[in-house]
Amino acid sequence: MRLTIRRIILASLAFFIVTSCIFTYIFSGSPGLSEMMDVVYQRQDKFSIEGFRENDISVRRELHYSNKQDHIFEDFVQSDQSKIKQNKQSGGIRRRLGSKAETTYDLSEWEQLPIGEQCGAFFNHWRQKNPDWKYSKDLNYDKSITDKGFFFRLQRDRVREQKKSAKRPNPDVITVEDNIAIEEEYKRIVDMTMATQRNMVETTSLIRLFGKCFLEKNNKDAELYEDLAKRFFPYINGQLPSFENAVTGESVVDGYPGATKPYEFGKDHLFEYMQDNSNGKGILISASNRHARDLIKLIRLLRGLNNKLPIQIVHKGDITAKNRDYLKMAASHEVEDFLDESLATEYKSIYPEINLQDVKEIKKTFGSEFPKQDLWFVNIKETIDNSYKYEFPGYANKLLALFFCSFRDVLLFDADTIPLIEPEEFFRMKEYTSKGAYFFRDRSLRDFNDYVETNYFTNLMPTRAQNSMEQLFKIPVVTAHTLNNTYMAGWRHLQESGVVAIDKSKHFLGILMTLPISVWREPVRSSIWGDKELYWIAFSAAGDENYIFNENEAASVGELQVSRNLVSYNNSMTREVCSTHPGHVSADGQLLWVNSGFNYCKKNGHFRDRNKFPYTNMNNNDLRSLFDNPLHITHAIVPPPLPNLRSVGNEIDNTKETEFKKFWKVRPKDVDEINEYVTDADQIVNQIDGWNPQKGWVKTSICSGYMYCAFDVVDNYSPFHEVFGPNSGFLDYEKALSKFSPGQDKGKFFEFPKEKVNYYKFLSKVWVTGSTKFKLIETQEEKEERERTERERNEKIKKLSDQKMVRLKSKLKQVAGQEDPDAKESAEKEQVAENDVVQVQNVERPQRKDHRPEPGNPLEKKS
Ligand SMILES: *[C@@H]1O[C@H](CO)[C@@H](O)[C@H](O)[C@H]1NC(C)=O
Ligand SMILES: *[C@@H]1O[C@H](CO)[C@@H](O)[C@H](O)[C@H]1NC(C)=O
Repeated sequence: MRLTIRRIILASLAFFIVTSCIFTYIFSGSPGLSEMMDVVYQRQDKFSIEGFRENDISVRRELHYSNKQDHIFEDFVQSDQSKIKQNKQSGGIRRRLGSKAETTYDLSEWEQLPIGEQCGAFFNHWRQKNPDWKYSKDLNYDKSITDKGFFFRLQRDRVREQKKSAKRPNPDVITVEDNIAIEEEYKRIVDMTMATQRNMVETTSLIRLFGKCFLEKNNKDAELYEDLAKRFFPYINGQLPSFENAVTGESVVDGYPGATKPYEFGKDHLFEYMQDNSNGKGILISASNRHARDLIKLIRLLRGLNNKLPIQIVHKGDITAKNRDYLKMAASHEVEDFLDESLATEYKSIYPEINLQDVKEIKKTFGSEFPKQDLWFVNIKETIDNSYKYEFPGYANKLLALFFCSFRDVLLFDADTIPLIEPEEFFRMKEYTSKGAYFFRDRSLRDFNDYVETNYFTNLMPTRAQNSMEQLFKIPVVTAHTLNNTYMAGWRHLQESGVVAIDKSKHFLGILMTLPISVWREPVRSSIWGDKELYWIAFSAAGDENYIFNENEAASVGELQVSRNLVSYNNSMTREVCSTHPGHVSADGQLLWVNSGFNYCKKNGHFRDRNKFPYTNMNNNDLRSLFDNPLHITHAIVPPPLPNLRSVGNEIDNTKETEFKKFWKVRPKDVDEINEYVTDADQIVNQIDGWNPQKGWVKTSICSGYMYCAFDVVDNYSPFHEVFGPNSGFLDYEKALSKFSPGQDKGKFFEFPKEKVNYYKFLSKVWVTGSTKFKLIETQEEKEERERTERERNEKIKKLSDQKMVRLKSKLKQVAGQEDPDAKESAEKEQVAENDVVQVQNVERPQRKDHRPEPGNPLEKKS
């Protein structure tokens, strides 16, 4: 090309126009122009949908656990380039471990070292290099970084709002500058989130090594142990909780009850003491005042189940003396008092054919002897450092209880858990005896989680087999046992933690690992509901996959709906059980426990729900009786399991997942989806006769949204696997629907035998008749107080009578001369003693408002 004058002029002109455009744009802020520029800019660059998508993929990739760096390893093991060359012939890669001043080993030498020395070599090196390392609690993580489009939408809305309130012209126009500013903010958030993830990954990795070295007692350096424990678990202040026997009042403040050795604060190492002195099997419940009513009922139920395990109720000083008294009474009353029908109206109204007071008959029919319970209160208030008082979420009380309790075999219950077998049986089940950690599955609801969540949790786990600290310390890398579980496969709910059975001696580190994770706010708290998923997550993060889930997912437990005008799918093969109670059926079909108490609905009475289907098709008395009686257990349905939404390894590309979800939209709808946005009552669809349910659980609005209906036959979840294939791009909906075979996915249906149904009725009656009314029995303090008053009174009377006797004697002497004084003395004393009894009976006994005083049974006189 030749440089002609014309071309130069044209080029200069073009340059001038472009420059002046930019100039005008920058200095005039002309909306028209900037808007125009914006469009041009956006179409071809990173602010477009396409640009966002590309960005998301690259952020997802960067966050992916397979790209996780092991910084601790890199710092500890420095490849020595020259040595690599030298050793290539001999096939070994020589590595220098530690800083120059330290001994160096090659990998095979390292492997020959006793683990204790490996621990010392590593942690001394690490401590020297990181003298100021502290556990970080205030970390920020923003899950939206993998959805840049969403991030921009939010931020642009914010910018518009700001402009509006600042009364700027054209507030709705997002300028290039705005986009650039948002981009800056986005980058800042990405960097922050990546740093947070690195920090959390490093912390969990260090704690794993700490567990390997010190909890497994491989290294005996007490100073190192203590120092590391303080850095990694700064919230644990080294105190044990105080234990108080609810019945005898016995209090244990210097160690674990039943331990052979007391705990010396400041001398013994807390973790070591806990590991060596946890003992026995027991039931553990974390509770506060608001759980008192449920606890009274639960303790009754445990008596009905012949429970012989001790119970520890863990609190933070937030159970009043009054409530403790109730619980003590529930645990220790004589069976006749405990089952006195005057204490609750439910005795007469509920299952009148079951007479709880006929103790003999009850024992014969149900085998229940209502043993007294060995109940303890455990106060953990002083065990947590003050600076962390508000750092644990409420649900972490359960985790702290698990960590601090004195049992070795722990059966952790929620206050509203309903065990339906003798609790000790949980420990005899093969799941427990084989693994020492037995968990239960939640309802297989079709709620999904997000890549960023499952990937985050995977990052906390040991995932690198090579070039990692895991490799150096032979910590097993997490397997498909975790990575292919329901949560990791893309579903929101895996664990239901109303019952958790753990052998602390086998899983100490796993339990300990729940604590640092529960202190972190994001992304932990928004990714899981309460403590639910934390058990398996923490165990796997600890490198401990030795836990097992009950085979069956949660069942809907209640009564089979037989009437066609009461079922939601009235032309389907499916069976239907609607219930507010998820329950858990063992592999061999035994119903083990249900959740949410024993009431039909724990939230409200029948009145609030009377205008909702299917109650509209029931008569009022039947409806009322349904709500007023306890849950009637005759059947259970475990719906078919969900297919994997995400494959093992947490795919970075989410196309398949997105297509899967889109497929739901072209399928027929379930009643909950049809009615989701319907506000007009007449428009609500109650029954469907054209197809089967599309998912195993359908939510209803009954019982404040707690009721779900479960189905054992579902139109297959994923015909599309064949159509979609592992490699094909997008789903062919036509083809998918043509392959759709109605009712293909089958769940499990259970019908319980008559004796069991009766037994559940009996248990439900025992539970619902629990109340805060008790026959008065003295507490230890009351007894002592009474005895003290009695003693004082006796002394006073004796003194008086002695004085009187002296006077009498002298009078007698005066009046009658030398008659028998001893006979008179004893007569006098007897009279005094009788007065004494009468007076003690009249002593005002402490009475509580809700207590019904014990009828006319005089207190025993102390001899
Ligand atoms: C993951 O789970 C699915 C379904 O439960 C199963 O078909 C698949 O074989 C599992 N994959 C691995 C690697 O275990
Ligand atoms: C199912 O119920 C609807 C109304 O609720 C009714 O119109 C329909 O006929 C019923 N179908 C069958 C097969 O019973």
